[in-house]
Amino acid sequence: MAVWSVSRTLRGLLQAAGRGCSSGAPATLPRSGEPALQEAEVLSPAKRREFLRDHAAPFSAFLTDSFGRKHNYLRISLTEKCNLRCQYCMPEEGVPLTPKADLLTTREILTLSRLFVKEGVDKIRLTGGEPLIRPDVVDIVAQLQQLDGLKTIAITTNGINLARLLPRLQGAGLNAINISLDSLVPAKFEFIARRKGFHKVMEGIHKAIELGFDPVKVNCVVMRGLNEDELLDFVALSEGLPLDVRFIEYMPFHGNKWNFKKMVSYTEMLDMIHQRWPELEKLPEEASSTAKAFRVPGFRGQVSFITSMSEHFCGTCNRLRITADGNLKVCLFGNSEVSLRDHLRAGASEEELLSIIGAAVGRKKQQHAGMFNIAQMKNRPMILIGG
Ligand code: 5AD
Ligand code: SF4
Repeated sequence: MAVWSVSRTLRGLLQAAGRGCSSGAPATLPRSGEPALQEAEVLSPAKRREFLRDHAAPFSAFLTDSFGRKHNYLRISLTEKCNLRCQYCMPEEGVPLTPKADLLTTREILTLSRLFVKEGVDKIRLTGGEPLIRPDVVDIVAQLQQLDGLKTIAITTNGINLARLLPRLQGAGLNAINISLDSLVPAKFEFIARRKGFHKVMEGIHKAIELGFDPVKVNCVVMRGLNEDELLDFVALSEGLPLDVRFIEYMPFHGNKWNFKKMVSYTEMLDMIHQRWPELEKLPEEASSTAKAFRVPGFRGQVSFITSMSEHFCGTCNRLRITADGNLKVCLFGNSEVSLRDHLRAGASEEELLSIIGAAVGRKKQQHAGMFNIAQMKNRPMILIGG
């Protein structure tokens, strides 16, 4: 049963209380002629938490793997296309594109999202390529917003089209955002991304702040000889702005010319920052977060590290991924994929889809076989990482 039925149970119980149930709870009956009280008014927050704790339904078995990890976070790639060509991600000529007919339609994306949310997914992140080049992205967000139980709708974007689209995206229900930015020097940005766009990205970041996104997450892939000299400037950005600057260890992907020497590890980055700000303090880790967070005391924002290379976070992994062509990936580092699109198009019922998803989740390994395997994989990294 989906965990969301708890809120329904809660609602049901509260209605029962309104009818005078024998729970012995303090009187919550509406006086005659008064409308029934809303659930939030009926139970104090403490009582509500207590109720939810005692009545929490078991998390969907389909989304729980054999190591007990509960997958409540789904990342969906909306497109393989991108309007930049970041060196660490794509070759100059772009990636081979799947024919349009083989990509998930908007309707299919929503059918799958509905199914996952019904089973307990409470966070969906839209990724790409660059998700904001999909023409119906605002509509997709608006329809996701209708799903009962979905708490977070996030997007990972390169920021190029952001300033223009963000007001509508926010109006449609977007409530979390990650923006990629690897350099604060326009010419270097252009060298890394192989396209112009620095000022548009900065405009996007400021628009997100102006619209109240807090934190605005900024993804920075750190590469030796390229941008590691800007680390302190990035940290300084968090002094007055509500940013979470996330330094990401550079990962090897097929064809991205990764080499060990270019990778700057988390400990090395931390040392550099400590030298400038010895008072840097570690922040408590959120459950299943992939980031290690720190703050310079007095700074408005914070910085984090995504240590994909030096310390894996398989133990708390709660993520599933759907590629733009409809494959479910249970692990970023595994090659195993199952085509939900094919099953959908063959007319699979909800139950059949769930058992296919459940079987794939059940096959998820305890941890991946090592970071260096990933270099062999023809994965499209932007679909899979970055936030
Ligand atoms: N190493 C680390 N992060 C990467 N990303 C893409 N390629 C790599 C890589 N090789 C991440 C970046 C970017 C997001 C879309 O994907 O964080 O912001
Ligand atoms: Fe595009 Fe993001 Fe890949 Fe850069 S990292 S090429 S912006 S998908």
